[in-house]
Amino acid sequence: MAGLIASVSGGWNGIIRKRRYWSMFGIFAIVLFFGYSLFILSTEYDRVSKIINFLKPNKNSEQENNEEVHLDPFIAELQAKYKPTLHRIDNSTFVTREGYKYTVNDTNHYFTEPLGKRLLILDADSRLETEPGHMLAPPPLTHEDIKRGTAGMMNHFLYAMIHGYDYRLVKSPKDPSRHGTWSKVPLIREALKTHDFVVFLDSDANFQYYNLPYEWLMNLWGVNGDTLAAMPEDPNSKVNQDSNGWVLWNTGFVTAQQSERTQDMFDRWDNCPSGERYKECKHWAFDWAHEQAAFGAFVRYEYEVGKDLIAISCMDGNGASYIGDKKCGGVFVSHHWGDKDRTIKQLYDRLDGHSVEELHRHFHENQETYYINAEKHTYPIKDLTI
Ligand SMILES: *[C@@H]1O[C@H](CO)[C@@H](O)[C@H](O)[C@H]1NC(C)=O
Ligand SMILES: *[C@@H]1O[C@H](CO)[C@@H](O)[C@H](O)[C@H]1NC(C)=O
Repeated sequence: MAGLIASVSGGWNGIIRKRRYWSMFGIFAIVLFFGYSLFILSTEYDRVSKIINFLKPNKNSEQENNEEVHLDPFIAELQAKYKPTLHRIDNSTFVTREGYKYTVNDTNHYFTEPLGKRLLILDADSRLETEPGHMLAPPPLTHEDIKRGTAGMMNHFLYAMIHGYDYRLVKSPKDPSRHGTWSKVPLIREALKTHDFVVFLDSDANFQYYNLPYEWLMNLWGVNGDTLAAMPEDPNSKVNQDSNGWVLWNTGFVTAQQSERTQDMFDRWDNCPSGERYKECKHWAFDWAHEQAAFGAFVRYEYEVGKDLIAISCMDGNGASYIGDKKCGGVFVSHHWGDKDRTIKQLYDRLDGHSVEELHRHFHENQETYYINAEKHTYPIKDLTI
């Protein structure tokens, strides 16, 4: 009897145990299934979301529209003020103040829509101070106090705000191993990790037409999907040529487009003075013209000019109208190497003192957006989010 009961109970136990096995197996299978699905979803997520984003029509203009809703009232007012005067991106011709007619080539209408915040106007300096007249000084910024460099930066900031571009002023870290002008190279590279286009300008270079969108200028200069970077030629004199007699390009005004190849090009450029890739490059760490000479003498030779790289004429993007050499008129972007006070004069010629103060006040009140103190970063700069 006891044996029977034992065997029966053993039988029940066996059945219960089997059921437990089955239900455990079931739970295990469900967990496995969900786990696997999650794994697939997570690995495919990037790809799938890219495809979905790609299929969505006008994703960027949608984003821009959303941003417009949250546009700062000061900027909204500023944009509304300039809107009636803006030159259309698709208008092929532009007539300058002097009456010269510029026409975009029929094959160069690559940009048709505003780039908005995908385009960054970038300023950088290691010597940013808070004394009166400087960009970082507390308001008001007065005509009496304003410094030349500040006037240049205010020109860049205003241009960015009018067109809805992004803007950053970066306090760059000092690098004891090379001259300060080199810092623009890693900064542009880092900025290209968060922006599709970066336009860097020295503080003595300024935009001549607030109403002319940068997309229009890039069409004029033939920038398209293949372009890695565009820079203006220097005045063609012996001191501005590389050892082969090829005129250098001015790195005080750099337009760069995000791509893996662009990142690679900026790495080569930034590493030039190490002498690893280009043996003769070491001395450009401190010898003038620093990063400009390094790019001209080595880096640009590895790329196709006219396709990867674009040389903007000195007339369009370097010098200024009052400079003797009439080949460098600075028509669209002037570079006032001869008379740096011109940035101040031109700022107040085109904007009254009150508006300058208001614009600077807006910069000051939104410094967490527009200003990055990268002073404490060390070289090589990596993962500085601009
Ligand atoms: C294009 O711009 C010029 C000014 O440079 C203007 O005179 C002309 O009317 C514009 N054309 C169109 C179609 O908007
Ligand atoms: C535009 O066309 C002219 C004449 O065909 C040519 O000389 C010039 O290089 C072209 N410019 C660009 C940016 O493609």
